[in-house]
Amino acid sequence: MMLVHAFSLCLFTFILLSCAIVTAQPQGFIYDEADVPDYTLPDPLISPKGKRIQKPQTWIKQQRSYILDLFREHVYGKTPSTLPRVEYELLEKGKNALNGSARRKQIAIRFSKDNHHLTALLLIYLPKRQAGPHPVFVGLNFYGNQSIHPDSAIRISDSWVRNNPDYGITDNRATPSSRGVRQSRWPVEEIINRGYALATMYYGDIDPDYDDGFQNGIHPLYHSWQQNQPDSSTWGSVSAWAWGLSRIMDYLITDSDIDSGRVAVMGHSRLGKTALWAGARDERFALVISNNSGCGGAALSRRHFGETVKRINNHFPHWFCDRFNRYNDNEESLPVDQHMLIALIAPRPVYIASAKEDLWADPRGKFLAALHADPVYKLLGTNGLATDNMPPLKQPIMSTIGYHIRPGKHDVTKYDWNRFMDFADMHLNPNPSEKKSNDKI
Ligand code: GCU
Repeated sequence: MMLVHAFSLCLFTFILLSCAIVTAQPQGFIYDEADVPDYTLPDPLISPKGKRIQKPQTWIKQQRSYILDLFREHVYGKTPSTLPRVEYELLEKGKNALNGSARRKQIAIRFSKDNHHLTALLLIYLPKRQAGPHPVFVGLNFYGNQSIHPDSAIRISDSWVRNNPDYGITDNRATPSSRGVRQSRWPVEEIINRGYALATMYYGDIDPDYDDGFQNGIHPLYHSWQQNQPDSSTWGSVSAWAWGLSRIMDYLITDSDIDSGRVAVMGHSRLGKTALWAGARDERFALVISNNSGCGGAALSRRHFGETVKRINNHFPHWFCDRFNRYNDNEESLPVDQHMLIALIAPRPVYIASAKEDLWADPRGKFLAALHADPVYKLLGTNGLATDNMPPLKQPIMSTIGYHIRPGKHDVTKYDWNRFMDFADMHLNPNPSEKKSNDKI
């Protein structure tokens, strides 16, 4: 009797938990593979004239920029082609950070144009055990640099920050109590111990994440450019954040502690979408990692699984260009899908990470996008994605296109970071002396 009782209790708990997993996602969307509609993806290897691309050179010289333009015009928007004035100021450095294992630098990047100014703060940790120049992970953060680690020397962001009383953030300003609140997502010591530097910046330093008609962040510096855009393809915030990542790259090239040939860009969720777009636009990023990026990131839009184009445009009207709204409930007429975004990163290594409970971000749709980017990676002479089948939990695929799905929810975990570092170890050539001989070939 007791046994039966215990069994029903377990069953009840299991059912409750399963419901919780499903109800944690917004309701009224597709979460069942059986409900995914039939769809046909555009082929990244078909030219605008309908011819099949057979040669790597044709991809590199023509097709890549054709597809890049489609994403600019229909999804993320066009980015201004001129830069504002940029100055770097080393605000602070620490020789013995993280219990003596790292050096720390904090740099103000000051942008100015037409009497408008913007300052963004870059935080860098460099490993002390290994000799430089160091390979580096670059990523934007959600709550200010001070949120990634309790290190009391980290400057507290004075930009607009989303309120989060649990993190001590009220009146849209970060306070000392937000130090380290996001450290679970940034295993700084582990990154340093594995010989990588870490460079991070608050994404709101570039563009605060709310819809204000592009009046704040970097936008005032480009008012006249924005006003003169003839169509609805002006950049949204994802493009502005990706632009910010490229400005970090501009700085890293000037820093002799950093090996600018070994820069990996990493982002989670909306910043995972941003990392992919940054990697697609800017070929100086040697490796791209996108974690739980979902709709508008690595997930195929045509599957309508989890978050849809209509829902993302309605909830986050400032993320994409206005023209992207044309594809609300009309994904089939998009001239691109997200496998083509991944293909734009080829032949550079790209890693797509997902989580089982994060159905909103469509783990399978991200795998399929990786799979459909594979022909472009193969054309360019890499091994592409080393499987046709979605792998089980915690069995990462480590080919030039990498992929994993882990148990758990929408988050960045130590498991994720360990796989990112394994992937970087494989592809970024951790031994600089080998790199030199490769360079000669
Ligand atoms: C929302 C949004 C997603 C996004 C996520 C995030 O869930 O719908 O598209 O990825 O926020 O950035 O946290």
